[in-house]
Amino acid sequence: MMKSSLTHYIQLLQAGEVVAFPTETVYGLGADAQNPSAVRKIFELKGRPSDNPLIVHISDSAEAEAFALHIPADSRTLMKNFWPGPLSLIFRKRKQVLDLITGGMDTVALRMPDHEVARSLISGAGPLVAPSANKSGRPSPTSVEHVRADFGPDLAIIEDPPTRIGIESTVVDVSDEPYRILRPGAISIKQLQNTIDTPVVFEEKNKQSGDQPARSPGMKYTHYSPRARVRWLSDNEKIKSSHILYLFHTGNRPPTPGENRENSDFHVMRYGGDYEKFARELYDRFRQADHEGVREIAIEAFPNHILQREGFAVALENRISKAIG
Ligand code: TXA
Ligand code: MG
Repeated sequence: MMKSSLTHYIQLLQAGEVVAFPTETVYGLGADAQNPSAVRKIFELKGRPSDNPLIVHISDSAEAEAFALHIPADSRTLMKNFWPGPLSLIFRKRKQVLDLITGGMDTVALRMPDHEVARSLISGAGPLVAPSANKSGRPSPTSVEHVRADFGPDLAIIEDPPTRIGIESTVVDVSDEPYRILRPGAISIKQLQNTIDTPVVFEEKNKQSGDQPARSPGMKYTHYSPRARVRWLSDNEKIKSSHILYLFHTGNRPPTPGENRENSDFHVMRYGGDYEKFARELYDRFRQADHEGVREIAIEAFPNHILQREGFAVALENRISKAIG
């Protein structure tokens, strides 16, 4: 990216406009975190409920002090070890942080992306709120084409190759102990726990029902959905070639007759245990399936021993479960 053209996007952001930009996880829809009308545009463009808070993206750890009221020692260790990178940390917020950003909650999520273009943009324009650059309820965008498909030709987009990781950052609430993973991602619970003594746990699933306010309001909305029906493929289920079916294969199922034929009415994708590749391609497969009019996407379930071992499988299972709804 030429410095001069980056300047153009920095100016747009400083003028209160919205700019889509690449990160290492997914493309983000950026707006100046200090400008209420710019932040409001994000919610309007995405069709996002106003109680679903946004992550503030920074380019330097020192900027965290302006948003976080208190940075506990162990969360500082996480910042040192995993920033820049696919980790969003939730702190108690300073009162100066716009309520629009936090959906009225007393916490704020911060992240420093591991992407040259993103960080140059942020250091030029100042901290940016940046949700994934998709319409609410659509899969997150991993390419410029995905962003265009959701927002059309008028949106300013900084063009870059498809994103390296392909699923959104790990979100960890460090505002209280134990630290809670609200959204699993490329940084696994094991990696986090290996560096700090404060216990790190997954937010329990049932915790967010009932009258209690959700810790992460975003989690209650349907997410990541393609139009095709998504479901888990059961263990000994035979592939029925009588209807269109996409199968994402992660293990060692025996080949199915006809699966490699060009014109068969189903398509089989095998990842052979490469969970990172699976994560990188998941949202593109979802969108591609819709494009091709696929009616159903059946995905081999992750056995427990894989979930114990593979952080990416945990993140994939989370996104796929949400797509199933
Ligand atoms: O990888 C990523 O995190 C991408 C890229 C663009 O950086 N961004 C992203 O943003 O995924 P978004 O808005 O699509 O997802 C943010 C998630 C939502 O589920 C939201 O509810 C949660 O983080 N979140 C944000 N602030 C929060 C807070 N203060 N407390 C709890 N959850 C929060
Ligand atoms: Mg999103």
